[in-house]
Amino acid sequence: MSENRVHQENSVKKAKLKITEARHPVSFSGAGLSAESGIATFRDKNEAALWSEYNPAQLASQDGFKSDPKLVIDWYNWRRQAVAEARPNSAHRALGSQSGWRHITQNVDWLLEDSGALPESVFHLHGTLFEDHCNATCGYSEMIDINNPAALRDCPQCGDYMRPSVVWFGESLPEAVFGAAIEETKKADLFLVVGTSAKVTPAAGLIDLARQEGADIIVVNTEESSNLKDDDVELIGKAGDLLPDLFRE
Ligand code: OAD
Repeated sequence: MSENRVHQENSVKKAKLKITEARHPVSFSGAGLSAESGIATFRDKNEAALWSEYNPAQLASQDGFKSDPKLVIDWYNWRRQAVAEARPNSAHRALGSQSGWRHITQNVDWLLEDSGALPESVFHLHGTLFEDHCNATCGYSEMIDINNPAALRDCPQCGDYMRPSVVWFGESLPEAVFGAAIEETKKADLFLVVGTSAKVTPAAGLIDLARQEGADIIVVNTEESSNLKDDDVELIGKAGDLLPDLFRE
């Protein structure tokens, strides 16, 4: 057996033990969790990653929206189509079927909820594709049928443009959700990091916070991470293969 394989098997054993013993387990996920459901990631070696092909400054920022609002809305509606067609994969199901877990996610789909996770146990740091809100400060928002999302349109309350309720670069995370996620992170004794490049702050800072507060860190990713510490357990592979195994009795 190769050295890598022995190392991975030992890491899986360690991770399973930590999961069994955890009293306040939290998952922290990114686009890699939903990749096997057919939803593109943002930064990956894979060329289909969104930020390899598209410009985030144009499609995910206030300046980009001001310069070409129709382009931005059309792009989000195209992403909504992929989410509308997606079903939870085995990694979502492994997480969503655990009781007592909290799930902090950067993902704007609802596949964790669709896989059985209680909505109140899931904290969406970067918002959702299932809602639009007014781009001005009037506060109007409405739910979206992602199978049939509206094209660029005006806010019925104040006449500014409507936009998806996702967080763009330069914007703050939703305050209440981020505050609750910080509290859950501080309480965590296990922080299971799944499918994120951990490059976008402040979300990625929760991994350091969890570690500082004494949680065990397990990282599941198809690629090696560069910012791990000695006691962290790293598992290289697809979340859809690894997570069901981690939770198997
Ligand atoms: P990224 O696309 O930056 O990272 C996805 C990670 O998942 C990469 O490290 C991949 O190696 C890994 N990965 C890919 N497929 C996987 C699989 N099947 N199993 C396990 N790992 C896999 O996505 P995020 O870290 O979520 O922000 O990106 C953070 C934020 O940047 C997003 O929420 C988005 C983006 O700009 C907003 O839209 C506000």
